[in-house]
Amino acid sequence: MCGIIGITSTRPVAAKLAQGVRRLEYRGYDSVGVATLADNGIELRKGVGKVDQVDAELDFASAPGITGIAHCRWGTHGGITQANAHPHVAPGGRIAIVHNGIIENFLELKEQLLAEGAQFLSETDTEVVVHLIERALKVADSLEEAVHVATAQIVGSYALGVVCLDEPDKLIATRNESPLVVGFGEDEHLIASDVAALLEHTKTVVYLDNREVAVLTPGSCSIFDPHGEKIDKPRHEIDWDVEAAEKAGYEHYMLKEIFEQPAKITDTIRPRLRDHEVVFEPDTGITADILRGVDRVVFLACGTSWHAAMVGEFLFEELAKVPAEVEYASEFRYRNTPIPPGTLLVAISQSGETADTNAALEEAVRRGNRTLAICNVRGSSMTRIAAHTIHTHAGPEIGVASTKAFTTQLAALYLLTIGMAQAKGSLSQQQIDTMIMGLREIPQKMERVLDQAGEIQNIAKQMTSRSNAIYLGRGAHFPIALEGALKLKEISYIHAEGYPAAEMKHGPIALIDKQMPVIVIAPQDKLTYQKTLGNIEEVKAREGTVIAIATEGDEVIPRLADFTIFVPETLYSLGPLMSVLPLQLLSYHVAELRGCDVDKPRNLSKVVTVE
Ligand code: G6P
Repeated sequence: MCGIIGITSTRPVAAKLAQGVRRLEYRGYDSVGVATLADNGIELRKGVGKVDQVDAELDFASAPGITGIAHCRWGTHGGITQANAHPHVAPGGRIAIVHNGIIENFLELKEQLLAEGAQFLSETDTEVVVHLIERALKVADSLEEAVHVATAQIVGSYALGVVCLDEPDKLIATRNESPLVVGFGEDEHLIASDVAALLEHTKTVVYLDNREVAVLTPGSCSIFDPHGEKIDKPRHEIDWDVEAAEKAGYEHYMLKEIFEQPAKITDTIRPRLRDHEVVFEPDTGITADILRGVDRVVFLACGTSWHAAMVGEFLFEELAKVPAEVEYASEFRYRNTPIPPGTLLVAISQSGETADTNAALEEAVRRGNRTLAICNVRGSSMTRIAAHTIHTHAGPEIGVASTKAFTTQLAALYLLTIGMAQAKGSLSQQQIDTMIMGLREIPQKMERVLDQAGEIQNIAKQMTSRSNAIYLGRGAHFPIALEGALKLKEISYIHAEGYPAAEMKHGPIALIDKQMPVIVIAPQDKLTYQKTLGNIEEVKAREGTVIAIATEGDEVIPRLADFTIFVPETLYSLGPLMSVLPLQLLSYHVAELRGCDVDKPRNLSKVVTVE
């Protein structure tokens, strides 16, 4: 949801700004711009399109100056135009800003400014901020004071980078509800919406909290609390490396990330799995006593993470015998759901910055509930709101369509389920040992599915010219049907819907004809396998095309389905970690064959920091 980078350095910054904004592009890619402080004024280069396109036209790297800011946009207020692209420069031509977030009172502020004679060049909410800063600077002693005065008038979310020709080596950064980190480079300081943009220059960062202001020059970094008091903030070392945020020879980040899953699952489970138990790191604060005291779980999440939560619901109820429910974070927030004591609120998020999820989590904290985050990004806002955090170790996920973040979330949920079952005695030691063994075998079994990428690409050819698809699954695989459908629509723009297989009869069956591919997850479990075979027959009877995900060794399904992709047998509860892989690969190949921009699908953003 917009990416920001800013640098104050002893050396020219434009090339680094362009590189940084490229790394942040997954946050927004409808327009992009760079502003640097040059000797003869602010050098502003911005345009509509992806970074590579606009850069080819405007040559960002040649902009002169040792202080600058850059931005990639995912538009909220105002169309996708050059005028609405950031940075925005104040009418006097001396101040430039970049902004991520939404200024909720911008219409009111704009009216006041218009009444005072201000002229606006764009339709954005951001432009009011640059006017407010310019106005405040007329009486303020410093740029930071002007920023403080301006932001005090703002209602809404913002991460701001501000530069001014009057103080040409100064960069001001501040935030409220939108993420911003400060990086410590060599003779330079940087700001960015997330650490991925900083990795090449530094691994030492400070996470700004709401309404704090950082005043940066190449040699100094001062941070002030919302009252203007100077504060010391802890520095954090990032354990991701630059290579982790690159494509490593794959054509797309998404494909690389799909293939990273066995390793990332290993990274997520290994530190926590012992031979006969699950142990969480002491800094999570998760103890057997706490887990024993949980008698209900409510999950909060959005998007793909919401699908992980649905698998979590299944696991908690089935194995830990704890009632669980899943809420869309955006809905929970505005409903007075009664939450009895003993309830654990579990927020799930790749980024830790999704505005809806964090707002719901904050609401839970406010109500005094116990909270736990399952999150991929260390230091993210979510990890600072929740009382406990289990980090997934997916590493940086750049592809907008989530893959490895999802499966590592599932792995973390299995760990939590085992931990809970252990603490509450809801599974026998033998059952726990079996689950631990099953989990340990997952990475190597995943490799076996990924080895079939070539065959899956062939099957994908059947789907490239279809307009719709139906995904069916039961039990723990129903959320995977939803996730498979989401992956397909996100990146290939084919309309797709996921259903519990039995529900097909209650509506979707009306859609089935020769043009309709139906992807059926049909593992050989004791409870529902036969029923799912029946569903496949129903589709075939209506001439639909069936693509089945079946257990290795199944001889029945290949006779019924048009195409079969086999996955290794696992414990039923671990099955989602297998069945999701072919669906990820299928959507990847369909999108790639249709010539879609797999990593940057239209209208989407990887990190949704507005509600
Ligand atoms: C966006 C992304 C999705 C993601 C969702 C939730 O919509 O495009 O891939 O699942 O946000 O994000 P989170 O970071 O909270 O998991």
